[in-house]
Amino acid sequence: MLLAMSMDDTLWRDYEKQILGAADMQALAEIEQKLFGRKSGLLTLELKKLGEASPDVRKVQGLRLNGLKQKLDDAFVQRRQELAEKSAGSLAETDAIDITLELPKKERGHLHLIPEFIRSVEEVFGRMGFDVATGPEIETEDFNFNFLNIPETHPARDTQDTFHIAMDPPAKNQGDNLVLRTHTSPGQIRYMQSHKPPFRVICPGKVYRKDADATHSPMFHQFEGLMIGEDVSLANMKAVMITAIRELISSTAEFRFRTGFFPFVEPGLEVDMRWQGDETESREGRWLEIVGCGMVHPNVLKNVGIDPAKWQGFAFGFGIERMIMLKHQIPDLRSFYEGDLRFLRQF
Ligand code: PHE
Repeated sequence: MLLAMSMDDTLWRDYEKQILGAADMQALAEIEQKLFGRKSGLLTLELKKLGEASPDVRKVQGLRLNGLKQKLDDAFVQRRQELAEKSAGSLAETDAIDITLELPKKERGHLHLIPEFIRSVEEVFGRMGFDVATGPEIETEDFNFNFLNIPETHPARDTQDTFHIAMDPPAKNQGDNLVLRTHTSPGQIRYMQSHKPPFRVICPGKVYRKDADATHSPMFHQFEGLMIGEDVSLANMKAVMITAIRELISSTAEFRFRTGFFPFVEPGLEVDMRWQGDETESREGRWLEIVGCGMVHPNVLKNVGIDPAKWQGFAFGFGIERMIMLKHQIPDLRSFYEGDLRFLRQF
């Protein structure tokens, strides 16, 4: 007796129910194996046996078994699809990622306003053809004073009282004593010693003086500038100063040139800028000095081996904090160094 014939259709219908009720893909695969397994699947065996049956039986049973196989196949397809939809649905519930959700903003840092400003200085002067150079913050008295036409006994040293670095053994020559540089002007000397004119250069960096109040700090930033050529004049200097002020601080700022004294320039000028905010907030009154400048003194050119009969030009030194104070109406420069994020985040 053929198994197929011994099993009535209720048995197959039972399998059909099992398929349609399978809990998951795994259970479905097991039933499939049991029915359609290549070697011992129930239906596979039934179909194999058909080959041994008489033609009449084969015809009848063949039709029946193929009909059953089709039914069961359809059941598998249906259940597979249901299970797949179900798992996609539950994934949406258990592993939901809502890409439209606004997540809390991650705070991104940014440069402190001083280095940020220095970048814009480099950009504005870069457009005017100026190179950028840096020099050491610990300088010798020669570089900080003597080569700049400020000899040991010169009263101008008083206005730039600074921090001296103890040396053991002491330097043999006064000029070799070490100080924290009081201005970026030694940058001029170093650049002129290592380059041949004509040139244009700025030299930004930290400088140190023994001062401390709302508009002075023992450490602050300057940028030096130097332009030397055969016919560089005071008019060129004014143009460069005005361009720098307009581009870096404000295009509508009011400023004034007045004479000033620095031993390393002749003539010397200072530029003041008018406080743009509430005047009662300014700690220095209506005008704040932002830059010293002038035509490089012939003695300075001689000190670095440049012939003052052939070459001439101007130098300047801007106070960076003061420029930023004027730009943003910041009355007290100590805010720059306190590290208070409520202040720093505003820029
Ligand atoms: N070094 C001067 C200062 O710090 C500024 C300055 C630079 C003036 C260059 C003239 C020329 O006060």
